[in-house]
Amino acid sequence: MRVSCSAPGKVILFGEHAVVYGEPAMAVAVNKRTTCTVSTETKNTKVNGRNIQERYHSYILHSIERAGIDMPLNIETNSDLPSGAGMGSSAAVTVSTMGCLKNLSAEIDEKEIARDSFEVEWDVQGGASPIDTSTSTHGSSILLSNQRLSDFLWKIEKEKERWYAHHRDIPAVNIVVGDTGVHSRTGPLVRKVRSFYEKSNFARDIVKEIGEIVKKASTAFSDENLERIGELMDENQRLLSILGVSHPKLERLIKGARKYSYGAKLTGAGGGGSMVAITERPEKVAEEIESRGGTPYMLESTPDGLITVDA
Ligand code: MEV
Repeated sequence: MRVSCSAPGKVILFGEHAVVYGEPAMAVAVNKRTTCTVSTETKNTKVNGRNIQERYHSYILHSIERAGIDMPLNIETNSDLPSGAGMGSSAAVTVSTMGCLKNLSAEIDEKEIARDSFEVEWDVQGGASPIDTSTSTHGSSILLSNQRLSDFLWKIEKEKERWYAHHRDIPAVNIVVGDTGVHSRTGPLVRKVRSFYEKSNFARDIVKEIGEIVKKASTAFSDENLERIGELMDENQRLLSILGVSHPKLERLIKGARKYSYGAKLTGAGGGGSMVAITERPEKVAEEIESRGGTPYMLESTPDGLITVDA
């Protein structure tokens, strides 16, 4: 038996890190994807021709464990998402793998895949929110919130946190991402913010303030008020740098991008990785990013979340 699934990367527009503590966040699925193919015709479990190892294949290994599959599998992955760049490569590999593993025995159930993929990220990263995995599973745009709103998709609970995922239409904006080339790992950054959050009232206030920004951004999106969205992005960036997850190279790219944007901020875990800008002049923003040593991506949003493809 052989199955193949594809899942998109994502760009977080608002709320990263604070969302881990139950605050709201908004993300959009983008037209860069990971495809996973799983076949049962093998004697040992291999990933891209190598024996599976926790060190290299943690998300896939944890996905197999969570799906409760104990037969050997031959797994191939193909991705056009750069890893460690804040564009959701680990969520896309987890969701596409989980899609294949579940599809070996049943029809794909979005809600179940979103929940299981979140659990995998939580295990591997030592803490997470469902923003990346829910966006990669569903596609379009996702608003996570601590209360149930219109266009509700699913609820995910973990320890004392509870998130409600909602479908949102794709925002009518040009998205440019700039990769700093500084590889960043989500797990250590999430843990760094957690230790600040647990020790400091100040950090907890910053996290709450980010949550307030996301609520305002959600209204600004409904009103299609791009100036307001840009201001809120800049404000979100200021708070993320206070949380200690920005990086000098991110600041450089953000400064350049802002000349031609409504607003710009880091996207994803930070600490390197990528920034995102919302703009009417994507080419100019891309030029600025390139001239400052970054790699620009003029991304398009996609309605397609997890899909099965011909194996
Ligand atoms: C990473 O893309 C986003 C973080 O908020 C972690 C998470 O939500 O799992 C930093």
